[in-house]
Amino acid sequence: MAETHKPPEDFTLRMRRYDPESGDAPYWDEHTVKLEPHRSVLEGILQAKARFDGSIAIRCSCRAAICGSCGVRINGEPGLACHTHLDHASQATADGVIEIEPMGNMPVIKDLIVDMDVHWSKIQRVTPWLINKEPVPEREYIVARESMVDITQSMACIQCGACVSDCLSMEVDPDFIGPAALAKAYRFVGDPRDDQAQERLVDLAQDPAGIYDCTHCFKCVEACPKGVNPMGQIMRLRRRAGSDYHINDDNNGYRHEHAFVDNIKRNGLLHEADLLPDSYGGKFHPRAVPELLSSLPAITKAVARGKVTPRKALLHEHKADKHVRAYFDTIDAREERFELNLYISGYDEDSQSNDADAATPISAGDDGTPSAPGSSSQGVASEGTGSDTVEG
Ligand code: FES
Repeated sequence: MAETHKPPEDFTLRMRRYDPESGDAPYWDEHTVKLEPHRSVLEGILQAKARFDGSIAIRCSCRAAICGSCGVRINGEPGLACHTHLDHASQATADGVIEIEPMGNMPVIKDLIVDMDVHWSKIQRVTPWLINKEPVPEREYIVARESMVDITQSMACIQCGACVSDCLSMEVDPDFIGPAALAKAYRFVGDPRDDQAQERLVDLAQDPAGIYDCTHCFKCVEACPKGVNPMGQIMRLRRRAGSDYHINDDNNGYRHEHAFVDNIKRNGLLHEADLLPDSYGGKFHPRAVPELLSSLPAITKAVARGKVTPRKALLHEHKADKHVRAYFDTIDAREERFELNLYISGYDEDSQSNDADAATPISAGDDGTPSAPGSSSQGVASEGTGSDTVEG
């Protein structure tokens, strides 16, 4: 059915303005634009710039959610200005005024433009290119279909920086390699044509700002306008590092994960008091003692505020019941880890031809662009749809 466009309406934009070179403090600037409600916030900003103030600074190019240039915060949430409808943004606020700010975790160059060098330097950090295996085949590399499906999600990143903007770990530790760059790293670690998967994983596991610096806050998952699920890619890097290559890193990430799993297996519910020492090899392990001592202020505060009692902390009475043990038995009995990437969605139009396709490896160029026979019958979920990884 043809879409019926509504007549233009007034929308008020409250924009964060700041020019570091002026020496003045940041301030809010309001303009009311007139546009059809389905138009984008970017079109609103450009109209305000054209009609009221040519000095408003915003970066944009494609206006079609492809180039990743127009990342901003709209009503406090990171996103693409060209991919956010004015009516949706307006309805999301109590007073109907759309608030637009520059992205976070990156310095402001002017108004809504941030310095993306922070982001690009982290991308460079993960060696963002394929290091091919030798010998190089005379013709194209033949890659199994599932392998390309596995990395398609990370390949959908448009480098807009929305995930970087809201990364809480990066806010605390600016050195953290971050969600966008680590998702990029998985794109190559997961590519069977890459020759350096193990070396990449050792590097990212040993770096104190690497894969174990993520705190699972899910902000990057919510922020990504392309459904890349950066945190999911970081967890895949961890599974590869820990379960496939058994990389016992100096940051204690590997041991902490194992201590966590063993703790639940034993107790059913997490016994916090055991977790930290177990992560360091037990209460009396030389590495555990300084960690325990450094945690004393936090423990004392928690006891003083009644969040934990010494009895509860020291005598964890809960024990894993048979259901919990059954889960672990099932998982432990698996011969190999199997991950199903749900990022690719859609239905086969022709089951016969697709049965044939399933047995046919797909070929891919060095940029990893899949060119599978019959691949047109599959749709790539690019709008943040149910993209996730299921482990079995
Ligand atoms: Fe290209 Fe918005 S202008 S993504």
